[in-house]
Amino acid sequence: MARMPMDPQTKPQWLDDATQSLMDRAIAREKSLSAVLMTYIVSGLIFMLLPGTFLGVWNLLSISRLQAAEAISPGWIQAHGHAQIFGWVATFILGIGFYSIPKLRKMKPFALWRAWTCWSVWTAGVLLRWAMTIWPWHWRVGLPISAVLEFAAFLLFFVTIGPAHSSPDSGKKPWEPWIFSVLLGTSGLLLGLLMQLYETFWLGLHADSPSFPHSFDQKYLFVLAWGFLAPFVWGFSARWLPVFVGLRATRQRLFLAAIALDALGVVAALLSFVVPATVLLLAAAILSGSALRFFEPSLKKPKVANIHPSFSVFVRIAYGWLIVAAALGVWAALSGAPSPGIWGASRHALTVGFIAAMVFSVGQRVLPSFCGMRILASPRLMFTCLSLLMLGCTLRVSSEVLAYQSYAAWAWNVLPISAVIEMTAVSVFAVNLIWTFLRPPVVAPSPLQMYVE
Ligand code: HEM
Repeated sequence: MARMPMDPQTKPQWLDDATQSLMDRAIAREKSLSAVLMTYIVSGLIFMLLPGTFLGVWNLLSISRLQAAEAISPGWIQAHGHAQIFGWVATFILGIGFYSIPKLRKMKPFALWRAWTCWSVWTAGVLLRWAMTIWPWHWRVGLPISAVLEFAAFLLFFVTIGPAHSSPDSGKKPWEPWIFSVLLGTSGLLLGLLMQLYETFWLGLHADSPSFPHSFDQKYLFVLAWGFLAPFVWGFSARWLPVFVGLRATRQRLFLAAIALDALGVVAALLSFVVPATVLLLAAAILSGSALRFFEPSLKKPKVANIHPSFSVFVRIAYGWLIVAAALGVWAALSGAPSPGIWGASRHALTVGFIAAMVFSVGQRVLPSFCGMRILASPRLMFTCLSLLMLGCTLRVSSEVLAYQSYAAWAWNVLPISAVIEMTAVSVFAVNLIWTFLRPPVVAPSPLQMYVE
């Protein structure tokens, strides 16, 4: 039944005016928070589709036509990567963070202008960075400005909902392991932003192109992939998936060990110890999935009302891709020679097979209710986009190794097919979410919805 602000005529007698006014204010706040979140999500979807995926597909089609990984400008590849990681995934994380973290930590409400300002500055920074790498017009000034904007937006996010804000019962309860993982992810994002701040100023002063040099880019990608994206997804997994998937209780020490190994792996990569780094990251990947009990049967029935029942299968497949990504990383590092096919396959096993699959699965599970108590428009489209994503990823990862490493020339013909399948998957995901947001809420936002499920 809908819980709307009450009409004085129908208001129950036990509800005094002060309580009703409190409830109305809480409902209004919930609606405003949902509007903030929807803005972050829709802009993330736009980044994912246009500057991210379409440019990625264009790059892959060009590489396949010329049958050479180095055939296209590094700037175009980096623009695609930046739009996906910062424009899509990080924008989602910032929006979900503003919406859910204050509730999870029972913090006092923050001023909403902070979330809107963060969104404007972040979006301007990501757009500017993308444009500067594609059209290097006044890039010596534009590139550092884009890094400053992204960094400033992150600082605003951090001071608004970061660990400095204590909840009334903080100090009494020890931190749960998912919080450590989210903190590691936040530190990884901060480090990535600091690295790009330094590099963009350096390039602006000394270089003749806005593209990051290869050696810097490799380290920066380690930080973003394993220092930021992976721990964030582990953190949200540990917080939500034991309930959503009905998993057995998380093995907390193992989970903390996974986070520690991951952090060590990133530090080793930064110090150029690439083989030990990839081995540590493989261990972290295996431990994280085992600690969260993804490789064991569920204890309880998964909570899949209003979404596709295959949800828990896709989440498990995603954790399988995480291990494949890390194992490919070990292979690439051990091979010694430059191995763009194996590194590229490892990167996309992680970003498409793990990160995108988790965002598609968990996003379609939680975002409809976070964004104004809606239900997902089409569970069938959810199944379609996840199946296509997994198919596209399998073709992409396998044929990238075969083609780029010159093991099998026919694999060049498979790469464009994989790109089109992945692009369709991504578009179906966007359509399903936007369709969901356009539908009316099933229940009016309620002040009682204080805690995220
Ligand atoms: C959806 C289909 C996608 C296609 C067709 C695609 C295509 C490409 C291509 C052709 C490259 C050049 C290097 C290589 O060949 O491996 C690349 C690099 C990259 N992609 Fe993707 N990609 C896709 C999805 C994603 C996603 C979802 C993410 C992240 C969430 C991502 C992040 C990256 C990153 C970080 C790089 C490296 C950028 C750099 O070298 O700085 N990609 N992608």
